[in-house]
Amino acid sequence: MHKVLAAAGVASRREAEKLIASGHVSVDGKIITELGTKVDPEHVTISVDGAVIDLHPRKVYILLNKPRGYTSSRRDPHAVRLVTDLVKDVAESIYPVGRLDVDTEGLLVMTNDGDFAFKLTHPSHKVEKSYRAEVRGAVSHDELKKLSEGLLLDDGMTAPAKATLLALHTTRQTSIVELTITEGRNRQVRRMLAAIAHPVTRLIRTRVGNLTVGKLMPGEWRFLTPQEVDDLLKLAS
Ligand code: URA
Repeated sequence: MHKVLAAAGVASRREAEKLIASGHVSVDGKIITELGTKVDPEHVTISVDGAVIDLHPRKVYILLNKPRGYTSSRRDPHAVRLVTDLVKDVAESIYPVGRLDVDTEGLLVMTNDGDFAFKLTHPSHKVEKSYRAEVRGAVSHDELKKLSEGLLLDDGMTAPAKATLLALHTTRQTSIVELTITEGRNRQVRRMLAAIAHPVTRLIRTRVGNLTVGKLMPGEWRFLTPQEVDDLLKLAS
């Protein structure tokens, strides 16, 4: 059931499971909360909060330059602003592929294609993501080496990464580091830099696989080209 909802673009598989468990989903008018429920999507009517789901929507892929202060979710009662507020012109119900923290800016891919989202975020697929982190203190060569070789965080060692010093303001005691990682753990970049005692003051995702934000200003978005979607899928396979 959760895969059917994800394929229809209702939510990611994980979020679809939550929708089912919390009683938002009905099949032929009857609410189901069992996660393992099997359905034949061609022969039933599925609704979320009473709205019938179109099981074959057009697939859309969007690149958003996320501003600070927006939550990477489609619904969140606690969020002040949602990234979906920025793509209101898109009729399909799309959701973010992976998450950026509310205070993180930059490249966010959004889609209604559950398989694409699953492939891109699965830990085994190792798509590179680059971040530009402004941090407190002067980052040393040894610290860059630690970032790139792997650090012990409270959820285990980080995988090898690429770490480059982009700028060092000795008078202000701040540095700008470019960090490229292949994992996607919660708040990973902030935690890696905190682990070497350089707290992040600003974080921007600059690249995912072959994509960069290019000329998009914060809050602006564009559709990905079919070629870009294919290239991302190749990187994730
Ligand atoms: N790492 C973080 O710490 N935050 C993000 O938003 C993304 C990666």
